[in-house]
Order: sequence, then structure tokens, then C-alpha cells
Amino acid sequence: MRLDKFLCESTDFTRSMARSALARGEITVNGEVVKRATYVVQDTDAVAWEGEPLAIIGLRHLMLNKPAGYECTNKTSQHPSVMDLLDVEKRERLHTVGRLDVDTTGLLLITDDGQWTHRVISPRHQTDKVYLATLAEPLPDDAVQRFADGMLLKHEDEAVLPAHLEVVDPTTARVTVQEGKYHQIKRMFGALGNRVVTLHRERIGSVVLDPDLAPGESRYLTDAEVQSLGGMEPGETA
Ligand code: URA
Repeated sequence: MRLDKFLCESTDFTRSMARSALARGEITVNGEVVKRATYVVQDTDAVAWEGEPLAIIGLRHLMLNKPAGYECTNKTSQHPSVMDLLDVEKRERLHTVGRLDVDTTGLLLITDDGQWTHRVISPRHQTDKVYLATLAEPLPDDAVQRFADGMLLKHEDEAVLPAHLEVVDPTTARVTVQEGKYHQIKRMFGALGNRVVTLHRERIGSVVLDPDLAPGESRYLTDAEVQSLGGMEPGETA
């Protein structure tokens, strides 16, 4: 790969910023200043910018403990973006894996790996998403059964898939769903004549929100976590 491209792939430089840094003599390869943008970087080359070693940024997979008040978008809107909470290079390349509402908190996955995202959110993979909801009114006796039956929500032609409801106390419930329709959890409780007061996502598949992450903090997923969500099924092609 050409040196100017390598600089763009390993930093937030644009191509013209990379060329300027080269012209200023800020880039070294194996300890020697290189000013030529067309220099071809070899696997064994040690490239540095003002002495700081550089490496190509590969595909990234993060979990964020989303706080309330942040929107799952890369665009500017009336709320700050969850991306503002990340201290990473090339933030504009990242996207959220599905969305949480502005007031929903908890586990949010963020990546620049589009194929992985597709596998995580594809209904074919039936990945569990687990939410803890607090409610305005006590749950009715038939709530567990109605979630298990699959409800027909307003403005939908088909019932949602059966969902598991665990009653924690009369106004708190843990819900497991395998799809992600617009405002799904709020609309499911709405169908019972209830209202969600707070909603917090605890888990996606086997990936649990890290208890060491305070709201607003993030960390990279481990390889095992990435694999557990985005692994391919036998016979499946990317
Ligand atoms: N269901 C909702 O209603 N809101 C969310 O943020 C996620 C799931």
C-alpha cells in the first residue's frame, strides 16, 4: 500500500493532510524520514508519525453502556450522538448495530464491520435481546401469556414473535425478544395498556453489558464475543 494511503488508513488524516505531514518530514519508515507519498509500505516496515508508531485500523467491534439522552445516529440532531462518547480514530466509519431510543440505556454494539452487523441483526439468527423495563402500572395476570402468544401491535400486519416475560416485581419486568421492530418493547407494553418508564438493554445473545462500564463508557469486544454473535451458520456465506 502507498505511504499516503497507509497514513489515511492508520490516522484521521485526509489524503492532503497525509501529503503535508510527509512534506514536513514528520513521517519515518524504519527510523528514516520518507517524504515520498508513493513509497510502498511493506508488512515489515515500521511507520511512525512524529515518533508515534502507526498501524492500519482494522475492523472494530465495541460495546457502549449507552446513557439516556443520546441518539443512535452519526448525523447531527437535537440530541448528542452516541458516537460523541467514543474516543477512537475514524469515528465516521462506525455505525450502531440496530438502535436504542434516546431514553433507553444499556448495551449498544458499535462497529465498522457491516457483514457482522448484518449477522447480528438478521432475524434468521434469532439472537436474544434482553431488556429490563420499569412500568407505570402493575402488570396484569395474563401478561406473561400475552407476550408468549405473540402480540399484534398497532400499525403491523403480522404479530410479533413470541417473547419471554419474566416478572421481577409488579412494575418491573425482564423481556427477551428476537427481533427489533420500531419501539417494540414500549409498544408491547402499550398493547397491555401500560407504559414503559425506563428501559435498559442487558444482553444481546451471549454478550452481556460489562458491569465495569459506567454509563457513557465503552470497550472493545473480545474475539470470543465477536465470534459468538457474528459467527456464520453451517452452509451460510458472507
Ligand atoms: N424497544 C423499544 O421500545 N425501545 C428501544 O430502545 C429498544 C427496544
